Amino acid sequence: MRLSQGPLFCLLVTGAVQALSFNDVSSNIKRGTDAAVSSVKDAAHNLFARQASARKNTCPKIWSQVASDLRDAFVSGGQCNDDARAAIRLAFHDCISGAGCDGSIILANEYTRSENRGLEDIAVKVGDWAQQYNVGTADMIAFAAASGISACPGGPKINALVGRKDSSKPAPEGQIPSPKSSVSKLLSQFAAKGFSATDMAALVGAHTAAKQRFAVPKKAGSPLDSTPGSWDTKFYSQTLDGSAPVSLDSDVRISQDDRTSGAFQRFQSMATWAAAFVPAMNKMTTIGNGGQNLVDCTSVIKSASRGISIRAAPLADRVRDSVEE
Ligand code: HEM
Repeated sequence: MRLSQGPLFCLLVTGAVQALSFNDVSSNIKRGTDAAVSSVKDAAHNLFARQASARKNTCPKIWSQVASDLRDAFVSGGQCNDDARAAIRLAFHDCISGAGCDGSIILANEYTRSENRGLEDIAVKVGDWAQQYNVGTADMIAFAAASGISACPGGPKINALVGRKDSSKPAPEGQIPSPKSSVSKLLSQFAAKGFSATDMAALVGAHTAAKQRFAVPKKAGSPLDSTPGSWDTKFYSQTLDGSAPVSLDSDVRISQDDRTSGAFQRFQSMATWAAAFVPAMNKMTTIGNGGQNLVDCTSVIKSASRGISIRAAPLADRVRDSVEE
């Protein structure tokens, strides 16, 4: 008995038609020709290929564990803590220099340079976590930054993509923006990585969660706004009116320069700032990686509380987040 005449064939064909709705398959079946067998094989092959690709684009399970552990590590008393703020800064320094987000700040020991002063402890911790969870170092740095931002009440969800290439090739020194630099120099350093003046004004708003130890040594340990444990716009308003516990010279200059002061003023509105910060930070954390080959693990990171999600989070996530608040 030929396969095309037997019950097994009918079963195979019916399943394929139901599962795949391939019109060409069903018309061939009616004719009962050998071509139908070949169409079924093609259809099955396509189905398996699609399933394999769907599997490839799924966030590896380990990142749910990482997200949960980092949340414990980064939230203290309902606020984002010193490790969270350091992790946010670590990603900025890894991504803005050299080939981009490649883990070289840890893998090439760049964190021991004076331009990265203050990042030593978090660099060692994040490097250890990458090994412990057996994930890439560049991914761990970017994921920790996204987790650090989400750990601050009010912090937006930024993309947590994984799949970056690690590199132990050191970035050239002198590419990390300095608080002593002019606005022109800072703008050119950001422009070199594709950021506009508005992007820079938005990104520097991460100082809402910042403390400083070395820029103004007399005020070591002071935060750059009165609420470093939450993600709000007080950094902008307090830098502008001079009421911040301490301000970096560069932040004051950015708040006053014609090219950035308008955005600095506008970012006193949370929604306006979030709408500029999120895409700029998403771009920052994929410098050198294109983004297209990366896998999206954003949904495994939960907000500390009322995070503004610029991405259209799935309804289930939004319901879950609001239940957790
Ligand atoms: C104009 C560009 C920038 C300059 C000149 C600058 C400079 C600085 C300086 C001097 C400190 C204090 C370091 C210390 O004394 O301990 C600091 C802290 C910090 N920066 Fe920036 N920064 C810039 C942009 C950014 C960006 C784009 C981000 C992130 C998106 C960022 C995130 C942070 C964070 C979170 C801290 C606090 C770190 C901690 O408390 O441990 N900064 N920054």
